[in-house]
Amino acid sequence: MSKTFYIETFGCQMNAHDSEKVIGTLEHEGYTRVEDEAEAGLILYNTCSIRDKAEQKVFHRLNEYKRLQGEGKKFAVLGCVAQQEGERIFEKAPYVSLVAGSASYRNLPQMIERLEAGETRITGLDDRQTDQTFDTEFTVRSNPHRGYITIIEGCDKFCAYCVVPYTRGKERSRTSASVLVEARRMADLGYTDVQLLGQNVNSWRDPSGRMSFAELLTAVGSIGGIRRVRFTTSHPRDFTRDIVEAIDATPTLCDHIHLPVQSGSSAVLHAMSREYTRDWYLERMSWIHGAARDISITSDMIVGFPGETDADFEQTITLIDTVKYDSIFAFKFSPRPNTPAIHMADSIPDVVKSERLRILNDRQREIQREHYARHLGQVVEVMVEGANEARHQVTGRSSQNKTVNFTTAALAAVPPVGSYLDVRITQTLPNSLVGEADSGAVPFLPVQRTPDFVVLN
Ligand code: 5AD
Ligand code: SF4
Repeated sequence: MSKTFYIETFGCQMNAHDSEKVIGTLEHEGYTRVEDEAEAGLILYNTCSIRDKAEQKVFHRLNEYKRLQGEGKKFAVLGCVAQQEGERIFEKAPYVSLVAGSASYRNLPQMIERLEAGETRITGLDDRQTDQTFDTEFTVRSNPHRGYITIIEGCDKFCAYCVVPYTRGKERSRTSASVLVEARRMADLGYTDVQLLGQNVNSWRDPSGRMSFAELLTAVGSIGGIRRVRFTTSHPRDFTRDIVEAIDATPTLCDHIHLPVQSGSSAVLHAMSREYTRDWYLERMSWIHGAARDISITSDMIVGFPGETDADFEQTITLIDTVKYDSIFAFKFSPRPNTPAIHMADSIPDVVKSERLRILNDRQREIQREHYARHLGQVVEVMVEGANEARHQVTGRSSQNKTVNFTTAALAAVPPVGSYLDVRITQTLPNSLVGEADSGAVPFLPVQRTPDFVVLN
């Protein structure tokens, strides 16, 4: 039981991918992953602290772990709550032996050694000191067709509401060479869909000075075998026109940009320290709307930021009417520890926040209902994600990242997961597309290879 581990992951894609790297690192250290926490010698909890009293939830979950105590089990808390709460975690949950934020994961092998030697209060709390990124050969990706590559870690933007600059350390980019080696290796293993990750992915600056972000996108999209390249999340401040030009020029770059605006009001954007105005953002939208390809645009929104008036909120509604997003993720403002906004009075009552959230989501649903209709009759390429063979029903994703459910009665066999084929859209819904595979569609499935691990040193 001693060299088995169980890991639970919350939060963003960066966290999900961090866990893939933590799993790879542990397996390289001789550990075996188990799916049942009762069977694990080491339990890891990779936490998120973005909203909603996240730390309380973590302590609640740790309390549940307590019943597993006394069987020689060890507990580790990783991620953003680990970084935020630090050694307080040992006080509230004394059975935890390791507390580490993401900026110190590169030291995990040493921390694991200390854990095995019986140390009980091990910390990896690098805060904003490190310049290093967590690069490892041992990533265990959960999906054999589609995988993440982190190209930039941390954040230097300090938006007034956001914990990330305090939990993930300062902004640090990987070299273009190391990103391209990883992408090449993934293509060799049969991955066809690569998603470049960063808290502000387009703030990536090549430490070797060889490439711009748009050039990196094009270079990854030019690797043989790679059919789809996504990147998330972009920040409007660093959003340059050559990104749109690169998408127009490179079919493997997906026609989707996630560019969170947060608010449609310049006054609220100023209070949030977003460092752009509504007009500045709309200019970037006009570049995307002016592209030759139909590029889908998605965004994150916060309602009820301190001081947001009805008129400010109305500006968010007129902004979504103007932009016509393909999807938005909208949240009620929640005050977070350490952030400047915690010192602003959380002035908007929760009922008002809830009402604004409802109005925003209702309006967006109407926009999507109308906007998705443009796909009716189109033929779109779908990457298959799952199938219900008995019903000849298959689900997958378009380049624009839309869910497509389609029938395959016209095909000789149900297309396998990970394959690509053309689907004719016969119905559009506010959140998904419905279609049928063309009788002539030939699913393309790349050859998968097992990882050939390169052992370091
Ligand atoms: N309150 C509400 N939403 C937040 N987000 C980040 N911090 C907060 C907060 N304190 C939202 C932003 C961000 C997304 C990942 O989460 O919209 O883009
Ligand atoms: Fe959560 Fe933000 Fe940390 Fe991701 S970076 S895990 S969203 S707090």
